[in-house]
Amino acid sequence: MSDNVVRKEGIGSYFHFEKHERFKNVTVPLDLDYNLFYTGREALLYILNEINNTNTLSKIWFPNYYCQHTLGWIKKFYPHIHIYNINPFEFTSDAIDVKKFATKNDVVLINNYWGLSSMTSNADANGPIIIEDHSHGWLSDACLHSTADYCFVSLRKSLPIPLGGMYWKPRAIGFRNTLNFKTDTHFYKIWDTMLDAMSLKSDFIAGDTSVTSADYLPLFYEVEEALNIHTDFVHLKDEHRHFIESYLRFDTRKIKETHLNYLYNKLRDTAYFKIVKRPGFTAFGLHLLFKNAMDFNALRQFLVANHVYPSSLWPDNHLDLEWRYFLNIHIDYRYTLTDMDYIIYLIETWLKHEMI
Ligand SMILES: Cc1ncc(COP(=O)(O)O)c(C=O)c1O
Repeated sequence: MSDNVVRKEGIGSYFHFEKHERFKNVTVPLDLDYNLFYTGREALLYILNEINNTNTLSKIWFPNYYCQHTLGWIKKFYPHIHIYNINPFEFTSDAIDVKKFATKNDVVLINNYWGLSSMTSNADANGPIIIEDHSHGWLSDACLHSTADYCFVSLRKSLPIPLGGMYWKPRAIGFRNTLNFKTDTHFYKIWDTMLDAMSLKSDFIAGDTSVTSADYLPLFYEVEEALNIHTDFVHLKDEHRHFIESYLRFDTRKIKETHLNYLYNKLRDTAYFKIVKRPGFTAFGLHLLFKNAMDFNALRQFLVANHVYPSSLWPDNHLDLEWRYFLNIHIDYRYTLTDMDYIIYLIETWLKHEMI
């Protein structure tokens, strides 16, 4: 086993609660006129409704590779979503030819894949309308300097907050909508459950022996389920808005860049996987792309057995590509270079074992 001690909570998805003071010296200027929501999907639905109310909306286009929960949820309101094809792992010429499939009154959702997309298209003043999803590219240049019609993001993918979604219109100066949504005590319980889960995980990390992962993991899962079911817009409570805003300027990107540069220096593409990266861009995580499902599963299982819990984004999507099994290893602000060494050690150990 490695000399590097792995943290007992492992390396994986759900953020634990951290006081925002920890981040006060790691901030980024944020020059966006934004509206906050509880979730990214609410922000997206709000945008679609706004377009639908003010334009003659024809077709809505989503990429063929996208978060299945969000797509499923949006389909409850807009059942007829059209799909365009994309390669989410290839960025050499990633400008999207929207004119090939969409017309003037259509809406095209463009996803910032892993923070590596350049988010360019040939849409112009004659349409179609472009909505950009920066959930995996929060603080990327393409996100901060977008010129799309609409942008949105799920903030909880990057920040230690229970819930949070944001929407902005890059080209509308001084824009902020007054969102008159109803209060909803049932929904506020989802926030509380998430915060409980995050706090329990913090207690566990801090050494509270009365807490185990069996206490907080079911709460995280409960929240995901509740978000899939809940469909109404909800008034954002002032205390929740302050909570989100106290973390909003935390520079999550810089820390990832340091970790990724360290990993990229030590890890190379192999016969089993390619590292999905792009010079000048900061990826969401350490992304490994496999050709063979067995190799993909074998490394994933090996990592999990050693307390590294990668996510596979998105397992329900099928792509007609030779290299298509995608593993995301978390490398965010929670971790240190010692953790990066542990990840490298595990991958190298697995590779040695495979090559015997
Ligand atoms: C790319 C992407 N966009 C949007 C969302 C929706 O965000 P939220 O869970 O905050 O509604 C998700 C996942 O949840 C996602 O993966």
